[in-house]
Amino acid sequence: MNQESTIQMRKKLISLAKKAGALQPDSQERMRLEAMATEYAERFFDSLPHQKAYSAFDAKDFIFMDDAIPEEGQSPSQLFKDVENRVVRPGLNTVSGKHFGYIPGGGLATSAIGDYLAAVTNRYAGVYSISPGAVSLETRLVNWMCGLMGYGANSGGYLASGGSIANFTAIVTARDASGLKAADYSKAVVYLTRQTHHCVDRALNMAGLRECTRRYVLMDNQFRMKSDELETAIRQDRKNGFIPWLIVGSAGSTDTGAIDPLYEIGEIAKNQNLWFHIDAAYGGFFMLTESGQQKLRGIERSDSVVLDPHKGLFLPYGTGALLVKDVKTLARSHGFSANYLRDTEMKNTFYSPAEISPELSRHFRGLRMWLPLKLHGVKAFRNSLEEKLLLSQYLWERLNETEEIETGPPPQLSVFMFRWKPETDDGDTNEFNKKLHQSLLEDGRIFLSTTRIDENFFFRVAVLSVRTHLQEADLLLDILKEKMSEIS
Ligand SMILES: Cc1ncc(COP(=O)(O)O)c(C=O)c1O
Repeated sequence: MNQESTIQMRKKLISLAKKAGALQPDSQERMRLEAMATEYAERFFDSLPHQKAYSAFDAKDFIFMDDAIPEEGQSPSQLFKDVENRVVRPGLNTVSGKHFGYIPGGGLATSAIGDYLAAVTNRYAGVYSISPGAVSLETRLVNWMCGLMGYGANSGGYLASGGSIANFTAIVTARDASGLKAADYSKAVVYLTRQTHHCVDRALNMAGLRECTRRYVLMDNQFRMKSDELETAIRQDRKNGFIPWLIVGSAGSTDTGAIDPLYEIGEIAKNQNLWFHIDAAYGGFFMLTESGQQKLRGIERSDSVVLDPHKGLFLPYGTGALLVKDVKTLARSHGFSANYLRDTEMKNTFYSPAEISPELSRHFRGLRMWLPLKLHGVKAFRNSLEEKLLLSQYLWERLNETEEIETGPPPQLSVFMFRWKPETDDGDTNEFNKKLHQSLLEDGRIFLSTTRIDENFFFRVAVLSVRTHLQEADLLLDILKEKMSEIS
């Protein structure tokens, strides 16, 4: 390359860097944007008690689908307004204390601050030798959760993006640890119940196990797996030439909040030599409470367990966890080698997330979990979870004594079902309940989601928002009564 062309190239590089300068606002501009974000965040938090839990919207208004992605940058004030009015306002207000639908979660301000720092510094939480602080911080959190589940020194795991992905990697790990080969799949059997979260079925499909038999074990009248039926089914399947390999228990099912008999299932899994996986995405963090520990007795007998800190620890979406009793099983399924990463190999006493999960570059999820745990202490989380257990009991009892309300079983944790049985009911109870649901959605002050049990429409009450207290529970009862009398 001659000298002239080098000079031209240098000029062009300087000019391009200048033109791309907008990507790196100076400190004054950064502070202006940060101030706008903080001002909005504070206004959002302060107004939460008055905000609706649900804002109805026109499904035909595809909000952002025609949004221009502009060639030139725009002024931030309009963009912040867009966030407020077009992103945050319509639909479900997931951090409202009046959100009793699905499984609530999220909303810890201190977690958002942790996340902000994770994004600013962008520490690479994949490999220890590149980011020892970030990786060891996450590993410490994983070890803490393993201890909470009663797992021993050989255990480990990783922070996933959520319960579905964590369950998927659990299935892959169980498949490999059980030595299943493609030729076995048509004879392989998984034991679960009709209450098992649908992501487990999807995970089996994604893991290449679409062919394997799902054996739905009968449940008792509280939607818990019958362990004697499980044992009989396994024996029968073996006799018939099938290959039983996996039991999936629920520690708090989504629909009904049911806890399978984990201790008994653990015993069967051990005797029958099956992998025992527990989906505790919703219920797992109740292990922080004394009564939760009693209810979830036997969780320590599992080979793998999924927890969702974005549910039970009130963190923002995007924080799940898979824990396994023997971390080597995770490494066997997810280990890799790559020439361009050779110089990152180190002999550690623990695995890096990249070695035991499907991700390489990954969000540094640890900081959003570590900061609130350290700032507030575990005791604050324990108290809040105890409050949720008691609030759901309170709500169940109050609804149970309400005329025209039929409740499902009492909450085993903090989820239960109920439906309206009006006196004027001419047989179509489902229609009454659908009307009631529609009117709650239009009103929006509280949010409840629904399910079907044997084709019967039921409301679900799920108490797990950090902002749900007695006041919100009473509001739920008042609004229900108000709407029922309006409709009937
Ligand atoms: C019991 C259970 N398992 C799995 C999931 C899926 O978790 P995620 O939504 O984090 O993917 C949920 C979600 O509500 C759940 O309640």
